[in-house]
Amino acid sequence: MAYRLFEGKDHASIYQKYRFTPPNDLKNIIIQYLDKKKGQPHVLAVDLGCGTGQNSRLLAPHFKEVVGIDISECQLGEARAVPGYPNITYRTGTAEQLPFPDGSVDLLTAASAAHWFDPSRFLAEASRILKPGGCMALLGYSDSNTRLHYQDCGDRLKHIYEEGKQVLLPYTSNPVLVTEGKLEELYSAIPFPDKERIESFQEKSLISVRNLVGFIESWSMFQAFKKKDPQRGEDLLVHIQRRFLEEMGATSPDTEIEWELEYFCVLASKPQ
Ligand SMILES: C[S@@+](CC[C@H](N)C(=O)[O-])C[C@H]1O[C@@H](n2cnc3c(N)ncnc32)[C@H](O)[C@@H]1O
Repeated sequence: MAYRLFEGKDHASIYQKYRFTPPNDLKNIIIQYLDKKKGQPHVLAVDLGCGTGQNSRLLAPHFKEVVGIDISECQLGEARAVPGYPNITYRTGTAEQLPFPDGSVDLLTAASAAHWFDPSRFLAEASRILKPGGCMALLGYSDSNTRLHYQDCGDRLKHIYEEGKQVLLPYTSNPVLVTEGKLEELYSAIPFPDKERIESFQEKSLISVRNLVGFIESWSMFQAFKKKDPQRGEDLLVHIQRRFLEEMGATSPDTEIEWELEYFCVLASKPQ
């Protein structure tokens, strides 16, 4: 059974607005890995569960062609609306049944998405479509080590963030909880001997209170919570934003916080 928690038009536009692009330095590690294992040319990258295309766009300068695949047509509609990437195409599809011939793909990625896939069917497809030496890179972030810094109140801000997550816990799907294990089970199941894991890749950036609240709004568990009770959903976001600003002694939601996110990445290369 496929999970379909990213289908709504509103959810897709929130995704486009508030989701982060993966770190450039992590992307460089992935490209270097591909260079080492398969070498040039970099012809085709396929970005699975591409959502609104943040990771697909990051890959675009490195490949002749990038194809973003997602099960949600609304997410793809937002991705297609971003101009300036003539070598990217977006196609509706699933990670478990991929529309590519055997041995045709240089790099297969999934950013914050592989936890939603059926592991054995996805890995069978990945093994089939990758070229010899072709690579997969399954990246994501582990939220339990997220750190917030603003003057001396970072720990209190983290506490407010965690309280919000607690409210949403009953609406949190098992695959989301699995990401805290940094895809360990999926990593073990990859049938290639040549594989490795980056367990911790820290990315520091600035984020406004408004965008942090928007990020929470993009979560599948927030959307499930809001679907059940739209007013409580709205109230929760207003409450989190107000508590952040109070703690910071700030009035504008455009005030920025330093935000530390811990990414991970599973890398594997198909035997030559
Ligand atoms: C958390 S979002 C990540 C989107 C994007 N890669 C990013 O980094 O922001 C997960 C995406 O995976 C898609 N998805 C879930 N299950 C899928 C499947 N079996 N095959 C393809 N896409 C899937 C969802 O529709 C959603 O757009």
